Amino acid sequence: MENVIVLNHPLIQHKISILRDKNTGTNEFRSLIEEIAMLMGYEALRDLPLQDVKVETPIETCMTPMIAGKKLAVVPILRAGLGMVNGILALVPSAKVGHIGLYRDEVTHEPHEYYCKLPDPIELRTIVVTDPMLATGGSAVAAVNFIKQHGGKKIKFMSIIAAPEGLERLHKAHPDIQIYVGHVDRCLNENAYICPGLGDAGDRIFGTK
Ligand code: PRP
Ligand code: URA
Repeated sequence: MENVIVLNHPLIQHKISILRDKNTGTNEFRSLIEEIAMLMGYEALRDLPLQDVKVETPIETCMTPMIAGKKLAVVPILRAGLGMVNGILALVPSAKVGHIGLYRDEVTHEPHEYYCKLPDPIELRTIVVTDPMLATGGSAVAAVNFIKQHGGKKIKFMSIIAAPEGLERLHKAHPDIQIYVGHVDRCLNENAYICPGLGDAGDRIFGTK
């Protein structure tokens, strides 16, 4: 699928395997989510536009490239997407951060929105939407719909583990956005959890049940 990029770097795969382990505690889980987001961000941001600026080195004046224009917006889908934000900010500290609050209904698995705040001017920014889990794809599609309705144009979606069903649904609904995933798992179970997955990402990041 064009615009779907699986980032199967050995470091990412190794860290995902530790995430999957049910014995990995909250502290380590949170750190790993952040580290994986940074590794994924390094690849996902390789097309950020540059412009030459004038810099005086101790030796002479030169023109040298820096990130151009309105910079990045990182938009986590609450709650679990929050865990990935600092990994991206470590790469681009000047990025602005928006938030989209969505939760899945436990019975229908449909997403419900409860919060949205995006940085202006959203239409001029590259927007990286983060959520560690792409399961049915309902939350991802709703989040991207919302960002587009508010004028967002250049959108990248970043997820650590995806189910094939969710990946296909997001790509079909939004073929223009780039989707970066760390691993594509086998399937969804009857409760729309990813198999083998890592369980409930939000609960494991924040230590809730
Ligand atoms: C989880 C996850 C995604 C969503 C994925 O969030 O973080 O946002 O489910 O499922 P989908 O692809 O089927 O929509 P959840 O609704 O559990 O909320 P939380 O992050 O607040 O725990
Ligand atoms: N959300 C999660 O946190 N985990 C899943 O497996 C599916 C949705």
